[in-house]
Amino acid sequence: VSDTTSPLELPHVAPDEFRAAIRHLAGGVVIIASGSGADRRGLTATAACSLSTDPPSILVCVNRTAEAHDVITQTRSFSVNVLTSDHVELANKFAGRDGSKGAIRFAQELWSTLATGTPVLADAISAFDCSLFETCETKTHTVFIGRVVGVAARSVATPLLYHNGRYGVVAHVEG
Ligand SMILES: Cc1cc2nc3c(=O)[nH]c(=O)nc-3n(C[C@H](O)[C@H](O)[C@H](O)COP(=O)(O)O)c2cc1C
Repeated sequence: VSDTTSPLELPHVAPDEFRAAIRHLAGGVVIIASGSGADRRGLTATAACSLSTDPPSILVCVNRTAEAHDVITQTRSFSVNVLTSDHVELANKFAGRDGSKGAIRFAQELWSTLATGTPVLADAISAFDCSLFETCETKTHTVFIGRVVGVAARSVATPLLYHNGRYGVVAHVEG
């Protein structure tokens, strides 16, 4: 395929076919949060990864329809909170699976702040306070790149994974 081939001429993969394949990519589950007080918004996500260590930076992919999306754009900050196996109910809440919306999602847990004032989950395994550095817009999602300006980490906890449509935990192998 040459560089000049337009996307329309590329082979077509149906969304269902893509979904059936990508569900095998296991991912750590995080809550992406932004805003303050009654304007706090957050969503559960697996599309979060380290971009670089120097400078420390993270990227997340957020659907434009998610409530937190415009709060991140406006406040230019967000947090990435790595969930544990004790956080399944919280993950479902921040995915809207219990019908909740808005700042009410933050009511049950202890949230603190680090450098930017963005909420960080007190009992996350690790939490990254990020200052928005760059954005990349796609058809449905925005990729937010954050410069990490604050970190909190706990020593021992079991990270929560999502794989094949289900939550799980890591089984380590030798290598
Ligand atoms: C395990 C899991 C992973 C998800 N990953 C993402 C993600 O990476 N990006 C995203 O935009 N939404 C993701 N979602 C969906 C959002 O959590 C969901 O749409 C959420 O309700 C956001 O919309 P709302 O805050 O407006 O209700 C994920 C949901 C689940 C359960």
